[in-house]
Amino acid sequence: MGKQLLKVVLIGDGGVGKTSLRNQFIHRRFTNAYKATIGADFITKEIELEDGKRVSLQIWDTAGQERFQSLGIAFYRGADACVLCYDVTNYLTFEHLAKWRREFLKQAGIGDSNPDFPFVLLGNKIDIDERVVSRRQARGFAQEHSIVTGSKVEMPCFEASAKDGIHVEDAFLYIAKNVRIPQ
Ligand code: GTP
Ligand code: MG
Repeated sequence: MGKQLLKVVLIGDGGVGKTSLRNQFIHRRFTNAYKATIGADFITKEIELEDGKRVSLQIWDTAGQERFQSLGIAFYRGADACVLCYDVTNYLTFEHLAKWRREFLKQAGIGDSNPDFPFVLLGNKIDIDERVVSRRQARGFAQEHSIVTGSKVEMPCFEASAKDGIHVEDAFLYIAKNVRIPQ
């Protein structure tokens, strides 16, 4: 069997930290400067799992800002997993996730055909003390969506700080370990 390559797409509002999360994961670097992503691009990282298997994650960073969004959605197609990103200090970014998720399913051409499509929830910026989205609320969102879609697997929830490099790997490693391309 050939090596696994998984296309992973990061989506969510502008400024939640998608680019920063990927930079921290791939390069272990962080910058306070904000430069909005226009369109989308990918970086591939190979991960070796505990059992020796190798998985390559092709991680797509997309534009969150409304005016650049249309340039990003063209790249959803062919995704094997999707990371729904929000900022734990900004409630609106959490509220918008339902819309991001719907739009993703539509643009990726998945629709209702696959209720088990692997989404992962990722709340960023936990280094900031002014959190407004609780873990409970995040789990509520995950639960609600698995019930509505009739999914057998509940969406996993992660919280991270791209700034401090805390728990940034968790969501990516979860995908590397758990997502399998349907044969
Ligand atoms: P778009 O490309 O517009 O969709 O935004 P984005 O989601 O890629 O956000 P980006 O990674 O560019 O980060 C936005 C701003 O938040 C930048 O100023 C980052 O430095 C800051 N930021 C990102 N992650 C964190 C974090 O974990 N903690 C803190 N305190 N700031 C962060
Ligand atoms: Mg960006």
